[in-house]
Amino acid sequence: MEIPVNAERLWQRHLEMARIGAIAGGGVNRASLSPADRASRALMVRWAEARGFGVFVDPIANLFVRRSGREQSPAVLTGSHMDTQPLGGRFDGMFGVLAGLEALEALEDAGIETLLPVEVVVWTNEEGCRFNPGCMGSMCFTGQHVPADFHDVEDSDGVTFGAALNEALAALPQARRRSFGPPPTAYVEAHIEQGPILENLGKTIGVVSGIQGVCWYEIMVHGQSAHAGTTPRSARQDALCEAVAMIAALQAEFHDPTDTVRFTVGKVVVTPNSPNCVAERVLFTVDLRHPETAILRRLCDQVEAICRGHARHCRLEIRETLTVNACTFDPRIMTLISQQAAALRLPMTVLPSGAFHDALFLQRIAPTGMVFVPCAGGISHHPSESASPADLAAGCRVLAGTLLALAS
Ligand code: GLV
Ligand code: MN
Ligand code: MN
Repeated sequence: MEIPVNAERLWQRHLEMARIGAIAGGGVNRASLSPADRASRALMVRWAEARGFGVFVDPIANLFVRRSGREQSPAVLTGSHMDTQPLGGRFDGMFGVLAGLEALEALEDAGIETLLPVEVVVWTNEEGCRFNPGCMGSMCFTGQHVPADFHDVEDSDGVTFGAALNEALAALPQARRRSFGPPPTAYVEAHIEQGPILENLGKTIGVVSGIQGVCWYEIMVHGQSAHAGTTPRSARQDALCEAVAMIAALQAEFHDPTDTVRFTVGKVVVTPNSPNCVAERVLFTVDLRHPETAILRRLCDQVEAICRGHARHCRLEIRETLTVNACTFDPRIMTLISQQAAALRLPMTVLPSGAFHDALFLQRIAPTGMVFVPCAGGISHHPSESASPADLAAGCRVLAGTLLALAS
């Protein structure tokens, strides 16, 4: 049965959500648990309540919208995140949330009853840019962590995750509180590809085979602030000079002629950050990824030694904040997604994900899969991130069909 996905409603909702935290260049800055994130959650709740769907929130403020089934069994779950990067786009995460809501509404419009409940989830802090690491919501939901593990994590203004979480929970009085609960029957996440493969191949649907592994580090170099004009080199403990040497050495070591290793230093915080002071402290991050777990582990094992080798006068603190092995998705879910795409005559291909997603954690507790749609030029984590209404609707149709099959 074809589910009457409303492409225009789906598109308009993207535009409406994009007004919350809008920034120059057509992008969005909606940091996790910020006032903008809280506003987008409130809008989601309004849309859900208008259709009579149940609304729930768990201890880490993952937000669930539920359309009941004939049975009370664990739900078929879909969704993604609504937080963005500081210079983020309109579709990363938001597409998966709105496609899930549209799937529920389309089932409702058509009066299709399902055996199992179908739920849409908004995961808390997928991006990890305000509070490090990302995927806190899905890590707690799947039992890898408990919220208290993250309560003391601070953003760049010194606000703790615990405080922001309490505010976000208080801002959702309509949502019924519930515990993390049993694993879902299955989890399917829709997302823009965030890379160029689908567009280059001229395909509308990506059946995602898995996600590459990732490690994050926070590296703090402790030096001593001193006068830039008077302090001789021999008396300096220059945290910035040593951090730069570490970053250059890491970059050289992880240079991969095949371009498979992904190495990024995306954040550097210099204290006191003054032109005429030797740097007292430098915090920098490392994001290291590889599709093969054994290779990723070998690369990660080198990070600390390389940094220590360049800590000549400064003290070093290294924290591994995220370690996740590569995963492959459930072949049965991949087949279901392919069947939906084939039935809709949509050009498709199988591809891996270079980005991580909450599905990386969900696959540990439930049969899991992902549906990708193309984004222009493969650009993401940038205000110019763009996806066509037709491709978003196509991805939503495939998602809705997959959810119905799983819930029937
Ligand atoms: C997700 O945002 C990622 O960094 O892969
Ligand atoms: Mn995302
Ligand atoms: Mn992202």
